Amino acid sequence: MSQQNELFKKLTAHCKEYGFIYQSSEIYDGLSAVYDYGPYGVLLKNNIKEYWWKAMVQMHENIVGLDCAIFMHPKTWVASGHVDAFNDPLIDNKDSKRRYRADQLVEGYMEKVQGKIDKEVEKARKRFGDTFDEPMFLKTNERVVKYVEEHETVRLRLADLMTRKDLEGLKNLIDALEIADPETGSRNWTEVRQFNLMFTTQLGNISGEEGKLYLRPETAQGIFVNFLNVQKTTRQKLPFGIAQIGKAFRNEIVARQFIFRMREFEQMEMQFFIRPGTEMEWYKYWKETRMKWHLALGTPAEKLRFHDHDNLAHYANAAVDIEFEFPFGFKELEGIHSRTDFDLTSHQELSGKKLQYFDPELNENYVPFVVETSIGCDRMFLAILSHALIEEAVPGSEDGENTRDVLKLHPALAPIKCAVLPLKRNEDALVEKARSIFNELKFSFPCQYDDTGSIGKLYRRQDAIGTPYCVTVDFETLENNTVTIRERDSMVQERVPVSRVEQIVGERVDMRKIFK
Ligand code: GAP
Repeated sequence: MSQQNELFKKLTAHCKEYGFIYQSSEIYDGLSAVYDYGPYGVLLKNNIKEYWWKAMVQMHENIVGLDCAIFMHPKTWVASGHVDAFNDPLIDNKDSKRRYRADQLVEGYMEKVQGKIDKEVEKARKRFGDTFDEPMFLKTNERVVKYVEEHETVRLRLADLMTRKDLEGLKNLIDALEIADPETGSRNWTEVRQFNLMFTTQLGNISGEEGKLYLRPETAQGIFVNFLNVQKTTRQKLPFGIAQIGKAFRNEIVARQFIFRMREFEQMEMQFFIRPGTEMEWYKYWKETRMKWHLALGTPAEKLRFHDHDNLAHYANAAVDIEFEFPFGFKELEGIHSRTDFDLTSHQELSGKKLQYFDPELNENYVPFVVETSIGCDRMFLAILSHALIEEAVPGSEDGENTRDVLKLHPALAPIKCAVLPLKRNEDALVEKARSIFNELKFSFPCQYDDTGSIGKLYRRQDAIGTPYCVTVDFETLENNTVTIRERDSMVQERVPVSRVEQIVGERVDMRKIFK
């Protein structure tokens, strides 16, 4: 198993063992691509949402919040284009009966070609040592040049076929590249068909098409249909934004990679309404602003990158992803889309209700343009955890003989901010004192009291759930009312008066620090 695969396996096991994420309905063998958040998972997820909400709504005078229903009038999804165009190209293998996304099969082929390029580069790096010039090697090594050309040709062909929704062309490409079922090696494929990703359900006692409802596949449409309600009731002037966090549902054909691609997930979306013609300026602004939001958490810049879309969604005239390097490679974490006036105009046409803004400076009415930022909360959760989970030698242990699993989460996002631990669990005086400190601190931030093991074991458990500070109550505490505060990453302990613990920890875990 590759190192990356092992890391990913470890991460999923850690999430379960320490109460972050469970498979949904596990006692019935689970439900594919649906997950539940455990006690620490829900705290971390809420903190991610709070960080996003504050950055968007609290920090911008011209962005307001909204919380729409999941069910919307079915015409919403006709106007938005989802009924006609929210499809993935699906292909079945006739022998294995397995179902795949045709575009992902081609992407898998490209990943293999990329793997060959990376392998050649690594070999050459070892051979040439310090004198190795990678850009020159990529341009001049005959074999590598061939691979690079092949990768680029397939990439462009795929983008073109996807943009034109050419299903026959996709099937021909799969045949031409001799792509086989990744599980069985069979090349006995069906034709490629479109598969709509929206889940449907039924309204009350109305049967058939008339009562058909959709579970929203994005939160954005609730914002569009409420655009005038919000603008009028908050008296916002353009440019202004509406932010929303909420569940979205997609019947993904292939749901893999843990919480990366789920069928029920949560989005954090913001639609920024602007004057037509200014969209590229705002698109650039939101690209930069969102990248800063990620970097402010301490994520190394080399783990994040922009990736322009090869084929644009039906509503966009420019679109970029912020990609994160997950254990399975660089993948989309957030999308920033210039959606033009597509959505508002479509809703206006289908509903017959005006969705226009009167611009007092221009003295005219128009349908605003929109730049959207859209990030999956669960994907952000996975990105954060996959960067934070580290197995390391315990600092100071001889020859690194003791290792620990530690979640090096930003303190402002950590589920539990501070654990209060008595040095010995059988000493009544220590237990009583530790409990009284805990009972004070719990009013200020999420805290935990624990006396269920030796102090070493208690520290390891807090490391594993990412608690940035452990307050230890020892015999000196009983003499002079001081405790030690142990910092998770360095494991350095400082002795402070009990009366100062709340202020010290409170300041260090405060989200304000990130914004300032
Ligand atoms: N309103 C625009 C929109 O929904 P998208 O690129 O389809 O755009 C936005 O989705 C974000 O939602 C993605 O960048 C990703 O983080 C998250 N997302 C999309 N599908 C997902 C899924 N099946 N599971 C988890 N997150 C998903």
